[in-house]
This record gives sequence, C-alpha cells and structure tokens, in this order.
Amino acid sequence: MSENRVIAIDGPSGAGKSSVSKRVGAKLGYLHVDSGALYRIMTWQCLVRGVDTSDPAAVAACAEQVEIECRPENGAIAYYVGGEAPGDRIRTPEINAHASPVATVKAVRDRITALLRGMTRYGNLVVEGRDITTAVFPDSPARFYLTASAEARAARRQKEEVEKGIANQTAEAVKASLLARDAIDSTRKYAPLRKADGALEIDSTNLTLDQVVETVLNALPDDWK
Ligand code: DC
Repeated sequence: MSENRVIAIDGPSGAGKSSVSKRVGAKLGYLHVDSGALYRIMTWQCLVRGVDTSDPAAVAACAEQVEIECRPENGAIAYYVGGEAPGDRIRTPEINAHASPVATVKAVRDRITALLRGMTRYGNLVVEGRDITTAVFPDSPARFYLTASAEARAARRQKEEVEKGIANQTAEAVKASLLARDAIDSTRKYAPLRKADGALEIDSTNLTLDQVVETVLNALPDDWK
C-alpha cells in the first residue's frame, strides 16, 4: 500500500468540487484528480463508437476497450485517449446527458475505481467525484461532502458553459439537466452519491470559494497541514 495521502471530496454537479479541489491541491502541493472526467471519457468513447448508452452490456464491452493513459502534469493527473487530450469534447450537454447512465454500469465503475486507486503512486492526491468518500477511498481521514442549492449549482454551471463557449443553454435548462443527473447518480445500485458517515458536509451556497477552501484546510488532520 502506498503511504501517500488522499483528500476525498464528493458532491452533486456544480457544488464547487473542481474549484475547491484545485485550490486545495495547489495550496498543499497535492495532485488534483477529476474522477468525473474519467466517466465522461468513457461516455465520449461510447458515443464515438455508436454504443447505446442505455444498454449496460454494450457499455461494459466498450469500456473494456478504452485505453486511458493517466499521468501527472502541472499539478493534476492528466488523461489521454489514443495520445490525445479530450479537452472540452467531454464537457458538452450531450455528454452531460449520457454520463449518468454510463456511470451506473458496474464494469465502468470497477475500471475507474482501479485507475483512481492506482494514482496514489504518483503522490498525495485531492480526488473529487461522487463515490470517492464512500467507495474509492473510504478510509481516508480527510473526507468532505460539498453541496449547494440547486439554483446556485445551476447558475455556476451555466456561467461556466457560456464562458468556455461550450453551450448557450438557459439557467432553467441547465438546472433540469443537473437535477436529472443528480437523480440517477444518487439512486443507482452501485456506489450511489450520498454523504459518507464521518465526512464533513459543507454547504457552499452562501460561501465564497476562499471560505470553502479554508474550511477544508482547517478540517485536515493536524499533521497534514
Ligand atoms: O463531476 P462530473 O459532472 O464531471 O461527473 C460526470 C458524471 O460521472 C456524473 O453523472 C456522475 C458520474 N461520476 C460518478 O458516478 N462517480 C464519480 N466518482 C465521478 C463522477
């Protein structure tokens, strides 16, 4: 077993996990790991290969074939498929709509869980996702559940999409898509999104990014600070 440390951060879409994890990682010199991007890559590859994402057997067969190269780069674990970085191709509304059904498939989850656990060999990590505190690294002494109101989460996601030029959806459309994903993510059979026993819940609706980051840093085990 690696002695490296893992800070685990779960929560629904738009709760601020990415911004918080990146900042915490940069402050401590821990590598940032975006586990959702791995589910998005699997989804993207299913769509590229014409796989019906509502067919678990077809999704499982596709997931077995996708080779994802993971390597530390600029403070994060970067992913490559066939030597290419997926970039914003995995951030489209189409991927948003198909990622939750793909993430219900056990073979997909098992593969990604194994990839994530293997990343501790690269160093100390801040890992964000939906099942990091409950299933991937349940023994970490630094586990957080980040949440915010649906309105705040939708507003953040919409702003992000417009700023990045990914899409120009209304706040209502973004909220509907986000709530649909939350419903699938938190009711699925394998590793559903839920607050883990012992994880610290932080509601970021009325907090600034700095305040959330401070709360996380203050709650770390004393010898990690
Ligand atoms: O965080 P995100 O929106 O990029 O995640 C994309 C999808 O992947 C989302 O529907 C939930 C799923 N996911 C998951 O099931 N488990 C994780 N650890 C991370 C993401």
